[in-house]
Amino acid sequence: MQRIPNKYQLLVFIFLINILSSQAQMLHKDYSSQADSVLQLMTLEEKIGQLNQYSNDRKNTGPVINNKNHLEEIRKGKVGSMLNVTSVSRAKQYQEEAMKSRLRIPLLFGMDVVHGMKTIFPIPMGEAASFDLELMRKTAEIAAAEASAHGLHWTFAPMIDIARDARWGRVMEGAGEDTWYGSEVAKARVKGFQGNNYNDRRTVLACAKHFAAYGVAIAGKDYTGADISENTLHQVYLPPFRAAIEADVATFMSAFNDVNGIPATAHKPLMRDLLKETWKFNGFVVSDWGSVGELQNHRVAANAEEAALLAVTAGCDMDMCSASYIGNLEKLVKEGKVDIAIIDDAVKRILTKKFELGLFDDPFGYNYREAELDDELINKAHRKIAREAGNKSIVLLKNNAALPLPGTVRNIALVGPLCTSRWDMIGNWGAMGKPEYVTTILDGFKTALPNCKITHIEGYDPRTNEIKELPELSGFDVIIVAVGEKASESGEAKSKVDININSNHQQLVKRLKEESNKPVIALVMGGRPLVFSAMEPYADAILVTWWLGVEAGNSIADVITGKYNPSAKLPMTYPRHSGQCPIYYNHKSTGRPWSKDNQYTSRYIDEDIRPAYPFGYGLSYTTFHISAPVLSKEQYGFNEKIILKTTVKNTGNYKGKETVQLYLQDVVSSVTRPVIELCGFQQVELEKGEEREIEFVLTSKDLGFFNIYNEFVTEPGEFKLFVGNSSENATMLKSASFYLAK
Ligand code: GLC
Repeated sequence: MQRIPNKYQLLVFIFLINILSSQAQMLHKDYSSQADSVLQLMTLEEKIGQLNQYSNDRKNTGPVINNKNHLEEIRKGKVGSMLNVTSVSRAKQYQEEAMKSRLRIPLLFGMDVVHGMKTIFPIPMGEAASFDLELMRKTAEIAAAEASAHGLHWTFAPMIDIARDARWGRVMEGAGEDTWYGSEVAKARVKGFQGNNYNDRRTVLACAKHFAAYGVAIAGKDYTGADISENTLHQVYLPPFRAAIEADVATFMSAFNDVNGIPATAHKPLMRDLLKETWKFNGFVVSDWGSVGELQNHRVAANAEEAALLAVTAGCDMDMCSASYIGNLEKLVKEGKVDIAIIDDAVKRILTKKFELGLFDDPFGYNYREAELDDELINKAHRKIAREAGNKSIVLLKNNAALPLPGTVRNIALVGPLCTSRWDMIGNWGAMGKPEYVTTILDGFKTALPNCKITHIEGYDPRTNEIKELPELSGFDVIIVAVGEKASESGEAKSKVDININSNHQQLVKRLKEESNKPVIALVMGGRPLVFSAMEPYADAILVTWWLGVEAGNSIADVITGKYNPSAKLPMTYPRHSGQCPIYYNHKSTGRPWSKDNQYTSRYIDEDIRPAYPFGYGLSYTTFHISAPVLSKEQYGFNEKIILKTTVKNTGNYKGKETVQLYLQDVVSSVTRPVIELCGFQQVELEKGEEREIEFVLTSKDLGFFNIYNEFVTEPGEFKLFVGNSSENATMLKSASFYLAK
């Protein structure tokens, strides 16, 4: 055979393999032989190049380590992936350079598309409040379609870190404090981003992050370690990652923090033994930004070479932006310190995903659907979902008959710079969201209430928070004031010691009430649970409006006018005081459970131990009655279905949706278990006066937990089941008990 020029060798190999594989009827998703065929052609340097990821030098999401000439390195086959490439033309340029490399291995482009790409949805914590898993799947699906149109193959989402401490700024990126619910959200969002297979060119690879226990965040400070028991690690922090694998997640990202003394990025027991061996994860693990190099800061590596050795051996396949792999692995392999089999395994995992995306067949065909991004109809359809997501994310915490706005209202004051802010509606991790896409709160109200006079009052200086001169207020029919966090106050590296809403904001609410003597509606904006005990008495209604994205103004107007009856529930406990953090509903009983009548119990002497608003709490414009749960039997065998029924009735004056929550208590168990823990929920929409019986079905697996040996077990004995519309309300209602017998 005439010698085939180098640059076509790979194509010929792949063509032959495809012919063979189609004849062998290989599963379309099993590209193992194709990946092996490429691996055989690669030099050691080219293999290490696949493990190297650089950030585009125009948009960094971490400390910039070096800004080498990426184009030249790509051409030499020394780069496997780029992140933060925000322009389609730039992505094409990088890919064109990759096509000039010896083996023409395509690049993988990733970005943090966390809650939308161009159409920005509510922040994940806000969407989690919707308790609408299909909605969260849908918004992820749209985000993926827009991301892939932009030239991206991969999003670094969903963030599935369980978080119990609101002082940690990254709680905004997740689904809150509950492990069971966080696992359900993880599955929904992975399915949304990835669809059923990666061949659908409107989907992207998802990334389960940050593995693992990043949300422990000691003292609420970002990047601190996770010193927790193995039992807590397995019971609380790992299940969402296991769930993401059930949803076929393509990639993982290792965390910055250490886990019980070993940095996550060098954690062989977690990444190699548990994730890859036990859980059989067949995707690849990318480090977090610079976290390979940062093993030196953890002081487990004396230099970048040792850092590279530890991380790659532990199972971290790709080095994001520390250049430790590209700078040291060749030497480590040649000196026999790193087995080439480890390198080959990492490279094959990455090549396999590139094959599954179809990038070898057509490096440019996967995306670059720029026209879609400006398509009016598509944008309109996406914004409609964004508005629905906003509606469903707003949590009503208090309502002294102030909402929905009476039809007689004609003169409205909108107070605060957040009412006209655009960037703050996008929130942190806003990908390619732009302020011009945003419907502000002022915009939304003007559209919703064309016959009303709507006056915007600055209220306070957005930079200094100093309260500004207030006009005469008694002429208004209602005052709506937006307080809380700007987008720059929650997110990565945004930890706080004090989660009180700024005291001037709270003082403003008090002044608005006292100087107007009219209904005051407070919109609490932000990325995390906030404390606002000072202003609470002066607000007639309080809504948590997070950062709702491009349709923020319309969603808030929909809820306040009653076009949408609020249905959201808190996915994370709202403390009464910063000093209560971390505070969460599914806490352990302790040997001295709190009692208001006994000082020698688990309590504070200077504050009530209860939260301001509990997990699962959220009001509606109507009211619901949930009947005591009824079990089909009093005793079940391990293989029997446990069937519980309850009846929900709309006892108010508006059609509305209730999220009926099912909580479990394992009355006596071999390790200490939470007082209660969520094990199911159902959303029921009822006309006023309507009632409906709903049924929950559990299996003995749903009663299981990790025992002291970290084995997942279900133990016989007594269990209690509670139903309610919040974690607090559930325990106030009657429970149903049953015995599980061997
Ligand atoms: C950041 C974040 C991570 C993100 C990555 C790339 O530091 O920790 O969540 O995906 O770097 O932007």
